Amino acid sequence: MKFSLHIRASVLALLLLSLFAFSETSYGQSRDDEVYKKGEAIFKANCASCHKVHTKLVGPALVGVSEKYDKEWLYAWIKNSQALVKAGDPQAVAIFEEYNKSVMNAQNLSNAQIDEVLGYLDIETALGPLVAPGGGGEGENNGGGTSGTTMIFLGAIAAMLLVIMFALSRLTGTLNNLLREKMGRLIPKSIPFEKRIFSKKVMAALSLALLIFVGYAAVDSAQKLGRQQNYAPAQPIKFSHELHAGKNKIECQYCHFGASKGKSAVIPSPNLCMNCHKAVKEGPEHGTKEIAKIYAAVGWDPDKGEYIEGYEEKPIEWVRIHNLPDHVYFNHSQHVVAGKVECQECHGPVEEMKVLRQHSTLGMGWCINCHRDTEVQFQGNGYYDEEHYKKFHEGLKNGDIKKVTVEDIGGTECQKCHY
Ligand code: HEC
Ligand code: HEC
Ligand code: HEC
Ligand code: HEC
Ligand code: HEC
Ligand code: HEC
Repeated sequence: MKFSLHIRASVLALLLLSLFAFSETSYGQSRDDEVYKKGEAIFKANCASCHKVHTKLVGPALVGVSEKYDKEWLYAWIKNSQALVKAGDPQAVAIFEEYNKSVMNAQNLSNAQIDEVLGYLDIETALGPLVAPGGGGEGENNGGGTSGTTMIFLGAIAAMLLVIMFALSRLTGTLNNLLREKMGRLIPKSIPFEKRIFSKKVMAALSLALLIFVGYAAVDSAQKLGRQQNYAPAQPIKFSHELHAGKNKIECQYCHFGASKGKSAVIPSPNLCMNCHKAVKEGPEHGTKEIAKIYAAVGWDPDKGEYIEGYEEKPIEWVRIHNLPDHVYFNHSQHVVAGKVECQECHGPVEEMKVLRQHSTLGMGWCINCHRDTEVQFQGNGYYDEEHYKKFHEGLKNGDIKKVTVEDIGGTECQKCHY
């Protein structure tokens, strides 16, 4: 019966604290493992352009592959899937057919490296998809976050605990009194319920919990704010699009070579910068300071003019600016090649930007409005030769229809953009 109020308050505070702690570790813990990090790095460099772990991209989702396939088979497949297909391996042929004969290119990896990737995939499989604020999540460098729904959930639990505490304190109070009555002692004048519940210790515990809650909410919304129109974070190297794409007229796709090939436009690796910066050692604004960071990444000695032997390359940690939620599917080549949409229509006058910023909202309305208004470029576009588009070609030819918009070919159907 001596389960006094301040002990109850401390228990409540502890419970709340551990809940918050749990909400953090359940996202981050095993993703911090050494194996995971090594595997993740290989995955990002070699597989992420075509695969995600939990959702389909160009290739299948790789969740649970270690259980699905024999290890030796996986080594062979990853190293050279086409060799297996050509040799008539039934499993390989089946997957190849299922994915409309899109080719998974041979991966130049050792068995040990493949083991590391599989280790990463196993941990991802065990943990399940990362639910991060505003998407991003897997494959992106935004660590563990607590989503809005998680916060509401935690808030609800906190409220429930409070109610339970109220009820308990009532109950023990009544029981105490009953006991005293039974034992013939005088019933003390009962302290008003409000006074007990708002004692200093309880208030302290509650304020602490509130502080943590508000802190989390603030960080959470700050992260979301980071993904908005005109977002222009500072980058690890003061790279200027105005200087490269504007003044020096370097083609966008010289660096973002993925834009006409597939989903992602790709941020170039420092090795690509070296095509020019082996020779260009100084810039007009920052002298040698910023370019030296490229050398530090790839291990180049500008004085000797050679690579430092045995140097382990470090990636440049560019801050990602555009970031659609995970449930949205967006493909660059579909827009750049098939749709013939200019980069600038979506990204704005990039060639004038010293610091790159997000020009468009990237909201759903933005996508849909353009799909309603934009005509599909049928002329001289091999993309639309399929049977499926025949009625549009004929209609345009004999004048039945004046124009075909992206909406007409299905560009506003939910499943086209949502997984
Ligand atoms: C250029 C795109 C591309 C890259 C890069 C790529 N894959 Fe694939 N992968 C595919 C495609 C496409 C398939 C589906 C089979 C096919 O069409 O050949 C596939 C299938 C697979 C499968 C079979 C999965 C299943 O459920 O049937 C595994 C395993 C796999 N890939 C692992 C990897 C790993 C590991 C890497 C990185 C080391 C990688 N892939 C890199 C495109 C790619
Ligand atoms: C010399 C290489 C190079 C050229 C040329 C280049 N870019 Fe970039 N681009 C980069 C690098 C490096 C980054 C990452 C750093 C940054 O955001 O400034 C980047 C970032 C971007 C981003 C933001 C990516 C994100 O994180 O969301 C967009 C959009 C972009 N570039 C579009 C363009 C367009 C459009 C052009 C042509 C007008 C172009 N780039 C030309 C190297 C290049
Ligand atoms: C096709 C050639 C080419 C490529 C590729 C290239 N640059 Fe440059 N870069 C240049 C030129 C040219 C200059 C300007 C030199 C001048 O005007 O004196 C320059 C200047 C710079 C400067 C100095 C800016 C200043 O104002 O001081 C930085 C930093 C830089 N580049 C970073 C990069 C990075 C990072 C990459 C890779 C993502 C890259 N560059 C890729 C050609 C290139
Ligand atoms: C129809 C609109 C549209 C066009 C056209 C377009 N982009 Fe993008 N771009 C986007 C969207 C949307 C994202 C965010 C994708 C995401 O988060 O998955 C993006 C992201 C990027 C990124 C970040 C890395 C990535 O691929 O996710 C780069 C770099 C980029 N675009 C460059 C380009 C270049 C260069 C061109 C022209 C060759 C181009 N974009 C054309 C809409 C467009
Ligand atoms: C500047 C105009 C423009 C914007 C903005 C735009 N699109 Fe598109 N989109 C097009 C055009 C043009 C096509 C036609 C290309 C084709 O048929 O594949 C297209 C096609 C598509 C398709 C294929 C539709 C089909 O029926 O095959 C998808 C999916 C798609 N867009 C997704 C998006 C998403 C997601 C966004 C927003 C993040 C977006 N688009 C923003 C112009 C745009
Ligand atoms: C042309 C591409 C496109 C089509 C078609 C599309 N969506 Fe979206 N949708 C998006 C994008 C992009 C976002 C992300 C918006 C953001 O984060 O601000 C989104 C977000 C959402 C969200 C999350 C709420 C939000 O605002 O973030 C829901 C729910 C949704 N869409 C439902 C649908 C339904 C239902 C349909 C069919 C009637 C549909 N969408 C068709 C591109 C599309």
